[in-house]
Amino acid sequence: MSTTAFVFDPWSPAVQVDPYPFYSELRAHTPVCRIAAEDAWVVTRYDDVKAVTTDHTRFSVKQGLGVRRDLPAGNILVQVDPPVHTRSRRALQPLFSPKVLGHWRTRAQAIADDLVDDLLAAGGHTEFKGSIALPLVLTMTTEMMGLPDTPAMRPRYALWSRRVMEDLDRREGDSDLVDLKATLVEAMDWFGELLEERRRTGPNDPPDLIDGFIATSAYGHTEYQITELATAILAAGLANTADMMCHGALALAENPDQFELLKADPDRLATETVDEAVRFGSPAHCVYRLVLDDVEMSGTVLPKDSRVMTLWGSANHDECVFPDPGRFDILRDNKSKHLGWGAGVHRCIGEHIGRLEGAAIFRALATKASRLELDGPVVRYSTSAVRGFDRLPLFATAR
Ligand code: HEM
Repeated sequence: MSTTAFVFDPWSPAVQVDPYPFYSELRAHTPVCRIAAEDAWVVTRYDDVKAVTTDHTRFSVKQGLGVRRDLPAGNILVQVDPPVHTRSRRALQPLFSPKVLGHWRTRAQAIADDLVDDLLAAGGHTEFKGSIALPLVLTMTTEMMGLPDTPAMRPRYALWSRRVMEDLDRREGDSDLVDLKATLVEAMDWFGELLEERRRTGPNDPPDLIDGFIATSAYGHTEYQITELATAILAAGLANTADMMCHGALALAENPDQFELLKADPDRLATETVDEAVRFGSPAHCVYRLVLDDVEMSGTVLPKDSRVMTLWGSANHDECVFPDPGRFDILRDNKSKHLGWGAGVHRCIGEHIGRLEGAAIFRALATKASRLELDGPVVRYSTSAVRGFDRLPLFATAR
């Protein structure tokens, strides 16, 4: 058994520009390696990443999901292990069930159709992230949660979401950590006031997600915990979903054969495109767990009390599971094995929402556009924990 250190720096610019060659090297030669500067370990092979993600008895979320060992902030879902997690999840799961979401599927399609109609009517040039992906997820999220949808609030929601994702990557001493934490406090305060107001006015008709969260007070959830939950849902719902849409749209523009396949059978393949976009782009790229006991993996011991970076991005490109992993292939037969929604008890609770939103946009593009092309330089936004976009210029030709 070896505990040899291997120099892999997830924060180095080269890794952040294109991590996949590094992951491939690690999977082949050092599948479990140490990030010395952080006293953390990295697992890269599909089987190991899946084992860490699904074994909550040995890998805990109680010190948070990011690289820093923050004290638990009190989130009743993402920062608790079973059995507490099981109770919270059971209380919340009905709010996210496919049955409840039927209405939202129709709504997402209407929003996506309007956005793509407007784009084509205006000549077909778009900055896809800011003009299609974010507007779609912002409209859906504000409606589902019952949040005020105003021009002043939209950028704030998007910023809060980004900051929550940035927080996973930031280390003690990082220059923007103080500002980042201040923005998260601002988001929490804002949600705290919203919840107070909602308790005064009573539930909306029909009840929205915020009303559903408030109803979980019956399970003993405190006001602070519900505020945390609302902030987390906003954050998780916006950033990852918009970036998944960008990964998919860019890949369709770069692989016209895949866009042709999608156009030929959009009703069946729009959802498949979402899952391949989640696998291929892995927008939620990793989280950390706390090792509760010495665990051996691929010949290396992960010591008790260390942090372990579970690299979904690497698992989703493991050639032993996904042949030719760098190829975007919406017909890939085992793509649903990917770990881009997580796995085990913490598997994404908003998966059905993300899937229906993504399917709506891919279906709208496939039914209304004949071609999709890149239309200028892409500006990616990547940290060690997130792979996304700042600008994605695309050109769509009307059918
Ligand atoms: C493409 C879009 C999305 C991706 C790639 C994604 C990815 C993930 C991943 C990988 C996890 C597992 C975290 C862990 O194991 O610690 C997760 C959990 C979670 N996601 Fe998502 N997510 C997406 C969309 C959404 C949406 C739309 C929502 C809410 C409306 C959401 C809410 C959550 C929540 C609350 C959790 C924590 C679940 C728990 O701890 O039990 N996500 N997501």
